[in-house]
Amino acid sequence: MLKVGIIVGSTRPGRKAAAVAKWAYDLLKSRKDAEFEIVDIEDYKLPLLDEPVPPLMGQYSKAHTKTWSAKIASLDAFIFVTPEYNHSTSAALKNAIDFLFREWNDKAAGFIAYGSAGGVRAVEHLRLVMGEIKVADVRAQVMLSLFTDFEAFTTFKSHEQHDKTVHAMADDLIAWGGALKALRESAGTKAAKRAGARTFSPKVPSRLPCASAGAFIVRAKKWRSV
Ligand SMILES: Cc1cc2nc3c(=O)[nH]c(=O)nc-3n(C[C@H](O)[C@H](O)[C@H](O)COP(=O)(O)O)c2cc1C
Repeated sequence: MLKVGIIVGSTRPGRKAAAVAKWAYDLLKSRKDAEFEIVDIEDYKLPLLDEPVPPLMGQYSKAHTKTWSAKIASLDAFIFVTPEYNHSTSAALKNAIDFLFREWNDKAAGFIAYGSAGGVRAVEHLRLVMGEIKVADVRAQVMLSLFTDFEAFTTFKSHEQHDKTVHAMADDLIAWGGALKALRESAGTKAAKRAGARTFSPKVPSRLPCASAGAFIVRAKKWRSV
């Protein structure tokens, strides 16, 4: 069964994200074509990215990164519940995404956003990020308005039309998530990894400023041999 994580994308005290994520979970949990769970980034207590080695290498040194990695690796698809902060997603969600790389790869994502303009600018930014972490993002998205979907700009009140859009988005997400799960499980994934390795060329300064740059090259060469 396909496993879908509904990622709570705000850690702000008094956040709306938790109520929106629960609404989506309650709508989706009875579906028979996937399993859903709420993944609250607040629970993982991630600091600002504090791993010395880029996540592309998968060499995690911190317990919080390993716990977060195990959770995301266990999922096949994601529904990002995102607020709009300054025409983008929250720093907390971007930071949580940045912690990992391979755990996201070759999986699918959909979005539920909210803001004065339905959170669309947050989703547009997230779609750019998805490309870099090799996540296939579906077109259908849920756009909630702070003016009409939240009482007094605070308490979330669902409308039937949004319920339908959640399911439409989930239909696409499950279809793509299933296809990508098959891709990951097939020999094609190994070929894709080899192709990816050939195109990877870390930018290394001609004069190494410190020992860590040397260590980076060693790790990069090791990565290329995967
Ligand atoms: C730092 C910050 C920046 C914001 N910028 C925007 C914005 O650019 N566009 C918008 O529609 N809403 C903006 N808002 C309003 C948020 O969308 C709204 O407060 C929302 O409830 C935040 O989500 P959260 O409660 O889950 O943290 C901003 C809120 C904060 C805290």
